[in-house]
Amino acid sequence: MRQLSLPLKDSPYTIYIGSSLLAEQVLLTSYCEGEKVLIVSNDIVAPLYYDKLVSSLTNKKIHSVIIKDGEVNKSRTSFFQIIDYLVENNFRRNDTLIALGGGVIGDLSGFAAASYQRGMNFLQVPTSLLAQVDSSVGGKTAINHVMGKNLIGAFYQPVAVIIDTNSLETLPDREYFSGLGEIVKYALLGENKIHELLSNNIQKILDRDEAILQQLIYLSCQKKASIVAKDEKEKGERALLNLGHTFAHALETLTRYRHYLHGEAVSVGILMALSLSYRKHLIDQQVIDDYTRLFEQLNLPTKIDVKVDIEEFLLAMTKDKKNQSDSYRVILVSQQGCIIQEETDKALLASVIKEYIS
Ligand SMILES: NC(=O)c1ccc[n+]([C@@H]2O[C@H](COP(=O)([O-])OP(=O)(O)OC[C@H]3O[C@@H](n4cnc5c(N)ncnc54)[C@H](O)[C@@H]3O)[C@@H](O)[C@H]2O)c1
Ligand SMILES: [Zn+2]
Repeated sequence: MRQLSLPLKDSPYTIYIGSSLLAEQVLLTSYCEGEKVLIVSNDIVAPLYYDKLVSSLTNKKIHSVIIKDGEVNKSRTSFFQIIDYLVENNFRRNDTLIALGGGVIGDLSGFAAASYQRGMNFLQVPTSLLAQVDSSVGGKTAINHVMGKNLIGAFYQPVAVIIDTNSLETLPDREYFSGLGEIVKYALLGENKIHELLSNNIQKILDRDEAILQQLIYLSCQKKASIVAKDEKEKGERALLNLGHTFAHALETLTRYRHYLHGEAVSVGILMALSLSYRKHLIDQQVIDDYTRLFEQLNLPTKIDVKVDIEEFLLAMTKDKKNQSDSYRVILVSQQGCIIQEETDKALLASVIKEYIS
């Protein structure tokens, strides 16, 4: 088992990565304060892993709320389903809520844990690759509003993140590849070791080789933790984690979250950010070619393969709530590292978008 720490001033915690961690009775129970545990999961993940988790939580009164699968259920209805359950069953602040699932379950239950009695003990047990390398780490929790994604939320840190890499065996292919998209992002954020591991082990990665995956997950969490430790509430540097995301979010919005999985949109978005960086003479064409090939090898899209209108795309980019003004916030890649930029050259952005429409 590998572990690393996220050294936040008020709420430092440990991220554990390894095989069969769902069977680690001592580890899991050590993070369950109080006498009761509420496991929040969904109807895909619960049949696979709920019993395993429960059998490791000895001497605890176990409760569960099982949500229907899907992003649409990161909703106020599910949120109140959890809160009502906690109230009706007299949960106390020091009882524990465990998120068992992907990013949807993690974000939703994290926000419920943050809100119930102003914050209850919260443990993340992420089961999708995207959740293991991204959403379970760093304390961003949220539910969606009909007007937009993640509009209601809080920064709320878990007491630990326990990543059982065995759970990736059952993840559908597309979801698995989508998680790889976020891992590539960390390579560009300066984790050269990730780039090396990815480029030299394509077949093993496609075969879900656990040893390689554990290294990739460790390095990704380490990168994310190091950025979050410096800027927990995203006042500055944490925005670097949005590399490719202004483009990706616009693409997801325009296709109403139905055509691309998040990591797929991020794959195209990263290439667009690279193209913009190249046009500003910050990187060579070679970098774009390398990453295009890498994404192709990882079964991720490298072009926009649906009809999109460039003006609508630009509009969706400004509507990105991460933009603070009318300019377009983008992350550029340079040989010295990534840069946060408020881009005002609309024509330049339009030509990047055009380049990526296939
Ligand atoms: N909080 C953050 O910092 C942050 C960062 C990135 C993304 N997110 C959020 O995360 C969500 C996306 O997360 P996601 O990609 O994990 O989506 P998800 O939670 O919908 O999981 C993807 C699919 O895989 C299934 N699944 C999960 N684990 C499985 C397993 N081990 N075996 C079989 N099936 C499994 C799920 O049921 C679902 O159908 C979005 O809501 C996004 O906004 C949050
Ligand atoms: Zn992302």
